[in-house]
Amino acid sequence: MVFHRFDAVIVGAGGAGLMAAAQLAGKCNVAVVSKLYPVRSHTGAAQGGIAAALGNVEEDHWIWHMFDTVKGGDYLVDQDAAEVLAREAIDAIIELEHWGFPFNRTPDGRIDQRRFGGHTRNFGEGPVRRACYAADRTGHMILQTLYQTALKRQVTFFDEFMMLDLLLTDDGVCTGIVAMDIETGDIHVFHAKAVLLATGGFGRVFKVTSNALAATGDGVAIAFRRGIPLEDMEFYQFHPTGIYKMGILLSEACRGEGGILRNGLGERFMERYAPTLLDLAPRDMVSRAIYQEIRAGRGVDGKDYVWLDLTHLPAEVIETKLPDITDFVRTYLGLDPVKDLIPIQPTAHYAMGGIPTDVDGRVTIDAQNTPIPGLYAAGECACVSVHGANRLGTNSLVDLVVFGRRAGRHMARFVQENDFHPLPKDPAYRARAEIEWIRENDGTERVAQIRAELQEAMMTDAGVFRTGDGLKRLQQKLGELRNRYTQIRIDDKSRTFNMELMEAIELGFLLDCAEAIAASALAREESRGAHYREDFPARDDANWLKHTLIARTSGGLQLFYKPVVITRFEPKERVY
Ligand code: FUM
Repeated sequence: MVFHRFDAVIVGAGGAGLMAAAQLAGKCNVAVVSKLYPVRSHTGAAQGGIAAALGNVEEDHWIWHMFDTVKGGDYLVDQDAAEVLAREAIDAIIELEHWGFPFNRTPDGRIDQRRFGGHTRNFGEGPVRRACYAADRTGHMILQTLYQTALKRQVTFFDEFMMLDLLLTDDGVCTGIVAMDIETGDIHVFHAKAVLLATGGFGRVFKVTSNALAATGDGVAIAFRRGIPLEDMEFYQFHPTGIYKMGILLSEACRGEGGILRNGLGERFMERYAPTLLDLAPRDMVSRAIYQEIRAGRGVDGKDYVWLDLTHLPAEVIETKLPDITDFVRTYLGLDPVKDLIPIQPTAHYAMGGIPTDVDGRVTIDAQNTPIPGLYAAGECACVSVHGANRLGTNSLVDLVVFGRRAGRHMARFVQENDFHPLPKDPAYRARAEIEWIRENDGTERVAQIRAELQEAMMTDAGVFRTGDGLKRLQQKLGELRNRYTQIRIDDKSRTFNMELMEAIELGFLLDCAEAIAASALAREESRGAHYREDFPARDDANWLKHTLIARTSGGLQLFYKPVVITRFEPKERVY
């Protein structure tokens, strides 16, 4: 076992983790522990843009951005957090620009901006150009810019280390983490004054997803296991335009640049569902509309997909502003977006819920938002909550940089003011026991088979449409899979790059996340944002304008609730 001591440890090297690291560097000694080589982090999958009301191309204001975020989130957004997001986005973009981010430019040299779903001028009058972008590689450019900045500031990186446990004292103070060096299988204990979880989402619970293989909810599940409640887990976003059957993302920027969705009859069907914003309505509405068309028999050839049509756009726009998705379509489908219609279906994309935090990234433990000393979370694994029941496109990247930055700055102050708390005698005992159990277990069940059944069941019963009966069936299935998980067997007993072992650990995390989603979704008897209950199709503010918290207790999963913070915008019906 190897011991390390750092003032601050960040788990995850996506946008939130790297942004926090860049803030901490030079103020204390800081380490980033990442399951992946940093620039392979899933932030790279956010293609089309990062929102900020710069007003470079047309009039815009942070308060319009805040309003759109709140309305887009179906009023489950905490408005104090949404105000921070919209106000600080502007400064965060300028900071990225100063660090060398290669934004697309207007002819006069300003940062260019494009349209994205749900972003409007003057409180909903029509679409506004708010998304700053680097072609359709915005997430990748964020990773490159922040990684270079962190390296320049001499942050220490532990690449390809998988987090296995979070260390908390009996009275609830965070003292570090335990991780496995994937290359050697060695266990490392990181003793820290402050830990930031920036471990990303858990899209791999679903069969069709835009999420990278690594998005298995590691930090979320570990926090849950350590008694930290999870917030709003029932709200999971399906992005409307995934490549049919593969789930690979085709950026919303396609529609921002003028692309259109068409059903099997060639109709621009969004005219029926969102007459003002059309194809640029929020993702929950567009994804539902696609399935409504399919259910009405208007999918392509009666099948479960529709078309994304870019053929009316100038070839130069497609090639220069959407180069990556153009490559994906050519490579994976053998089609050319310049002249062919593209088959798409909604793809599981983003978790609105996760580890509850305040606006400084401090993880909170209860309905009163009591912070856990020394523990922070930011990015997709966190729920601050700026996305409420449905995130607007481009707001994930803003979330990363704004709240990654705030968490990093708060941690810098925290580590100045606090000492190290002692570690328990054997801090790695739980992590070691888990690995030994998986390595030695002599069952008959296969990880890949259980994972495939989990993903299929989640897709069927916790996807875009849900019902009480479906969610109960899902819970039963998850119980069965949980039992079978205790009977797994892996064949690779080695220590070096043992992917079979890693996948078995990750399956445990996915099961935890799935159970939290199913229980939270079954309890919420209304439809709001991405959580659509066919048996309760209306939003019900009287009973459900509140955040779900779900905790693992010795008596099983326990649900409780906390109020939504409403400051400027009273809930209204969402019309687009
Ligand atoms: O469609 C996209 O480019 C994805 C962006 C996002 O999820 O924010």
